[in-house]
Amino acid sequence: MKIIRTKDYEDMSRKAAGVIAAQVVLKPDSILGLATGSTPIGAYKQLIAWGRAGDLDFSEIRTFNLDEYRGLTRDNDQSYFYFMRHNFMDGAGIPVERTDIPDGSEPDAERECARYDAAIRAAGGIDLQLLGMGHNGHIGFNEPADEFPKGTHSVDLTASTIEANKRFFASEADVPRQAYTMGIQTIMSARKILVAVSGEDKADIVYKAFFGPVTPLVPASILQMHPDVIVVADEAALSRCKL
Ligand code: F6R
Repeated sequence: MKIIRTKDYEDMSRKAAGVIAAQVVLKPDSILGLATGSTPIGAYKQLIAWGRAGDLDFSEIRTFNLDEYRGLTRDNDQSYFYFMRHNFMDGAGIPVERTDIPDGSEPDAERECARYDAAIRAAGGIDLQLLGMGHNGHIGFNEPADEFPKGTHSVDLTASTIEANKRFFASEADVPRQAYTMGIQTIMSARKILVAVSGEDKADIVYKAFFGPVTPLVPASILQMHPDVIVVADEAALSRCKL
């Protein structure tokens, strides 16, 4: 695991974008696994800027997103589909046909999860998976549990995740209670993983995830077992780690 320490959120965003850019330069038809949340927004902005300046070409990439709320349609402005169009895909000029994300409006969980895993496999697997990390160590919506979940599946969101995500909704009651998410096996199958983390509030979980025991109680700790992980984190997020 390679840990890159950055000054602050902006520096973290540029360096995370740099890792993604390098992937796209080296393999223009890369399959990128992408994440939503506050953390990657700065990196997406930087990538869009490089694209507009002609320094990066996204025309051949394909993307798969980690997760989607269950019950939200793609035109709902709280859906992750909407988030990705708004924060990255539209600006980077990536057409909908080259992107995939679990369909939150599909009520048949088994069917949708099987479709999603099959689509990732058919594309040849993910070259680079971008991850953020929740305060409880969740990656995607893989919450602390007794075992590591495997493929894409439907989850009940924990109280702490509902609490953390309510900032995007009119009220806590509006936060969906379930989501579709890539499983730990799906994530671990990516050839390279980039974890972006920022902020003092993540310092404890960064320490537990990357320096503590590997346990499903801290889902991100499994990343210690992956052969090619880059963590880009700012000083505040690394403040509990002695590097
Ligand atoms: C997003 C996702 C989540 C977030 C995590 C951190 O697609 O799967 O695991 O990465 O909740 O969120 P932020 O970046 O908002 O702190």
